[in-house]
Amino acid sequence: MPRLRKVVFPVAGLGTRFLPATKVVAKEMLPVLDRPLIQYAVDEAVDAGADTLVFVTNRYKHAIADYFDKAYELESKLAQAGKNDLLALVQGTLPKHVRCVFVTQPEALGLGHAVLCAKPVVGDEPFGVILADDLIWNGAAGSGRPGALRQMAAVAERENAGVLAVEEVPREQTGKYGIVDAEPISERAARVRLVVEKPKPEVAPSNLAIVGRYVLPERIFELLENTRPGAGGEIQLTDAIEDLLHESSVLAYRFEGTRFDCGNKLGLVQATLHMALEDPALAAATRTYLAGRG
Ligand code: G1P
Repeated sequence: MPRLRKVVFPVAGLGTRFLPATKVVAKEMLPVLDRPLIQYAVDEAVDAGADTLVFVTNRYKHAIADYFDKAYELESKLAQAGKNDLLALVQGTLPKHVRCVFVTQPEALGLGHAVLCAKPVVGDEPFGVILADDLIWNGAAGSGRPGALRQMAAVAERENAGVLAVEEVPREQTGKYGIVDAEPISERAARVRLVVEKPKPEVAPSNLAIVGRYVLPERIFELLENTRPGAGGEIQLTDAIEDLLHESSVLAYRFEGTRFDCGNKLGLVQATLHMALEDPALAAATRTYLAGRG
């Protein structure tokens, strides 16, 4: 598979688990410490080599475009005040060589439909998909440890295959995920035989769940065009991947890193604590606070 250059971010969801905040704040803009979830996702895409980021958004989500845009007034005020550290932070949301493209998903018809909306921008090349509410952390950029998508892109290139990030989940949670049945081919990779969207625990083929990262060939778009509504009445990416399996190789990959399900409150709290404990300026005080709570 050719090198990964484009990454799609489906960000049109309503974020109902975080209402009322998500009345006005896109869930991808919720912060973990000082950076919004979408920043972690974008950093991971850039780490994987992406230079084109495709946001599939809805008409209410201007904040994400504003966030990655130049903030003229703020930047000139910070520059005048000589606050160069802050200026660097504001200007550092996106490297210069990376461009953002915004596509709207007119109706919330499902993840598969959202990904299909990116087709005119992605065109004829393989691409990544990142669901920003699954925060996967393998150390900061510059730590020397590759992000999950970079790991997956390397496997996709080497094996000439689609790659899905997977992790084991408790059996009783299979109904929240796409679940794979896969045959191990190495320590971290397994050849996918079957994928099912949100199966009940009693019929799930395993407890290996797809978590928010995909590397897919362009062929998935044609398959999505013919995908009928599935689980929850939505056009599911998982169903198109099931079709893809019958014609080309798809691998499930156990990434190196920790995944936080920031689509729910506990996951966001855990991610925040994890980052605070990794931050030299916050670690000691956070430990003291937690110890005091018993
Ligand atoms: C989506 C996918 C599902 C995947 C999950 C990962 O579900 O449809 O296959 O396991 O993301 O977070 P959602 O969380 O949007 O219901």
